[in-house]
Amino acid sequence: MPDPTSSITDNPYRLGSDVIPSHYDLTIAPDAEAGTFTGSVVIDVEVVSPTGELVCNAADLDITEAVVATADGTTLPATVTPHPDTERVTFAVATTLQPGRYQLQVTFAGRLDDRLRGVYRSTFTDPQGAEQHLVVTQFEATDARRAFPCWDEPAFKATFAITLVVPEDHVAVSNASQISRTPAGDGRDEVCFATTMKMSTYLVAFVAGPLEVTEPVEANGVPVRVVHPPGKSHLTPYAIEVATFCLDWFAAYYDIDYPGDKLDLVAIPDFAFGAMENLGCVTFREVLLLVDPNEATQPELQNVTDVIAHELAHMWFGDLVTMDWWEGIWLNEAFATFMEMAATDAFRPDWDRWTSFGVARTAALDVDALRCTRPVEFPVISPDDAEAMFDILTYEKGAAVLRMLEQWLGPDAFRAGIRHYLSDHAYANTTTSDLFDALESSTGQPVRRIAESWIHQGGYPLVTVDLVNEGRTLRFGQQPFGFAGDRGDGAPVDDSRSWPVPLIFTQGGGGVVSVERNLIEPDGLDVQLVEPAEWVVANTEGTGFYRVAYAPDLLSALITHARSELSPIERYGIVDDAWASVLADRLDVVSMLDLLGQFTAERDVTVWQRIVGVLGSVNHLVEPADARQSWELEVGRLLADATGHLGWEHTADESDRTRHLRGVLFSTLGTIGADPNVRVMAHDIHDRVLADPSRVDPSMAAAAVAVIAAAGGQADFDAFVTRMSAATTPQDEMRYLNALADFDHPVLMDRVLDMCLDGTVRTQNAPYLMRRCLAHRTLGDRAWSFVSTHWQAINDRFPSNSIARMLAGVAQLDRPETASLVFAFFETTEVPQGDQILAQHLERLEVNLALRNRATGQL
Ligand code: BES
Ligand code: ZN
Repeated sequence: MPDPTSSITDNPYRLGSDVIPSHYDLTIAPDAEAGTFTGSVVIDVEVVSPTGELVCNAADLDITEAVVATADGTTLPATVTPHPDTERVTFAVATTLQPGRYQLQVTFAGRLDDRLRGVYRSTFTDPQGAEQHLVVTQFEATDARRAFPCWDEPAFKATFAITLVVPEDHVAVSNASQISRTPAGDGRDEVCFATTMKMSTYLVAFVAGPLEVTEPVEANGVPVRVVHPPGKSHLTPYAIEVATFCLDWFAAYYDIDYPGDKLDLVAIPDFAFGAMENLGCVTFREVLLLVDPNEATQPELQNVTDVIAHELAHMWFGDLVTMDWWEGIWLNEAFATFMEMAATDAFRPDWDRWTSFGVARTAALDVDALRCTRPVEFPVISPDDAEAMFDILTYEKGAAVLRMLEQWLGPDAFRAGIRHYLSDHAYANTTTSDLFDALESSTGQPVRRIAESWIHQGGYPLVTVDLVNEGRTLRFGQQPFGFAGDRGDGAPVDDSRSWPVPLIFTQGGGGVVSVERNLIEPDGLDVQLVEPAEWVVANTEGTGFYRVAYAPDLLSALITHARSELSPIERYGIVDDAWASVLADRLDVVSMLDLLGQFTAERDVTVWQRIVGVLGSVNHLVEPADARQSWELEVGRLLADATGHLGWEHTADESDRTRHLRGVLFSTLGTIGADPNVRVMAHDIHDRVLADPSRVDPSMAAAAVAVIAAAGGQADFDAFVTRMSAATTPQDEMRYLNALADFDHPVLMDRVLDMCLDGTVRTQNAPYLMRRCLAHRTLGDRAWSFVSTHWQAINDRFPSNSIARMLAGVAQLDRPETASLVFAFFETTEVPQGDQILAQHLERLEVNLALRNRATGQL
């Protein structure tokens, strides 16, 4: 095994390497009603160098007994000393243990966690109206230590044999298949599971409760099932279809069979994250697993598909081969995100997944344009640091950089490198360097030099493009890209960052179109053309993680050819780069709107989503009442061509993306555009949905909910609350829940905020609903005052990981008075598990403030 201490130096949170675990026999008996659990564990360890104590992780556990057994069966009592600060425990014996094999035997007790981590309790109401509980685990990143004493670092891989003691009428699942279930004689059963493969502690999982399980369906040689709260089996076939597809698809891509012995997908009513890749026992929040494909919108269905694909991609990339330490988490998450797109794209090519990935790439580019960005790979010392790594830069920038490399190196060569990496490191741990080595040897390209600059350095370049020498020389340059804040203007002048930029560009002229590959070095690149070019795309298929600034003539030529020659994601890039240059103070808002005026004939939903995103940002800035009306009319004008073309009724043969587009246009007109006809129609559509959901296209049903909220009052709000509780699918419930934050009345805003803290809204959803409240155009300041006064209660109740995510909403509080309150608040308030993410939200607030200053007057 790799040396788990390689990057320890003097990190007080890291375990030593003198004792190595190889197997855990773990028994857990949870008591959901009492809110407690008891357990025992026997850990096979190898002592590598003489020691009188074994040190491992444990947190919030009462250790009741501990002995060390020697190979000859002697048991030595151990003195237990917990170290709560570093979440460790020392087991000291009276003699020195010589190198060799021992067993550490511990019994312990704990309380079920109330913030959705470690071993915790989730609650739901069954079809008979009774409240029910299940016991669930969530261990990544560092919470296995809250369930049992263990060497809780990813490089200490071991095998696990798990036994659960549960009420006889409860379902129990864990990572491996069940091998026996026997009555314990007290109304409980002892359920034993097979020994797992060698894996990291953060992947251990179990779930027990009054649940239902679907009949197994076989894929890639293993049975696949969905485990879910009772009465929801009709919402499971879609997940089974996606999961079985993905298992086969990934096994083929990786050229390695699925590493577990079965696969359960488990729907959990309270879940801090979206989903978790526990080997063989993947857990999900309900809305990301249980779905009725006939009632869901395309984005809702795509979310389910993405998340299943993402977690199953991890079964190999993450579970079979695991990063050595948390600073390498991007290896897991970026890759799973990349594979999620690839698998969804293979499952539903008509969804054009790599085009809609543009939206995620934009989110990453936006964070990475800040001074407070960080490199994708970044040092991790403490559990808080590990938690802070799960952000947009790890997931979306990481995935976008992988996509850039894959396209530049060629998909087949890239896949060969991945296969090589996985087979070389199966059941073991890796660093980023191992991945670059594998890609370099399979492609023969300088992958390490290129990739390191993108992974170990924050930010990205603005690629400049000009045509010189009578159109025969294409000149590319690069400079670091940054937004303009009120403390500076974009990237600092002494910024010396540069990147070897993997460039794929398209040029057209004289009726010939050609695509070429090259590398822009720090001092730029000149390409000599045989024929003069008429137009150039400097980021073909948008796969490059950079922004482009074309010389003015090239930009107008590009826009002229956009409809006929560019792909949707390339057109998306024009709009996206233009808006980024507004934020960078390289373009003014009015010119931006002029540019949008050239896109009225657009028909692609992702391009429209970007246009609508820009309209939403501008909408936020249009303040005086008299300016609003003309702005709303302007929005209507921009959308008129597309809505006229599409109409409001769907046709039987149109694609999912076209239906989605109709929903996007309808909700934009009804919200930002305040179109009175659309607002009337929204009620009509909603009435039809209530009468018979199957008669209305889900895209329009969802859009109607958003429109009603934007213009609705008390009665609509009450109706939505009722609809939310009566919802028959998780997606429907979330639609109504989210819409509650969009009503434009102070009293209703107060009600939503109260619901977030009084237990009406699950803590898994409340932070994200509050984020939406903070981003409310007119009432965000009210939400801020609530968040700042209830800060302690929010932090006591909500899952730790959700706090920094909730605060993304503060970036929208760009009225100077509110912004000052926000800045002052965080002068004295810390978010240790996400300090950098918070710093990014605050810097983005500065950028937005500066934009508001510039735009006031222009609009
Ligand atoms: N491994 C993560 C879940 C996770 C994230 C655990 C952070 C601990 C800390 C899982 O694979 C994941 O990435 N889940 C995403 C959803 C996914 C589809 C992007 C999530 O939970 O947001
Ligand atoms: Zn993941």
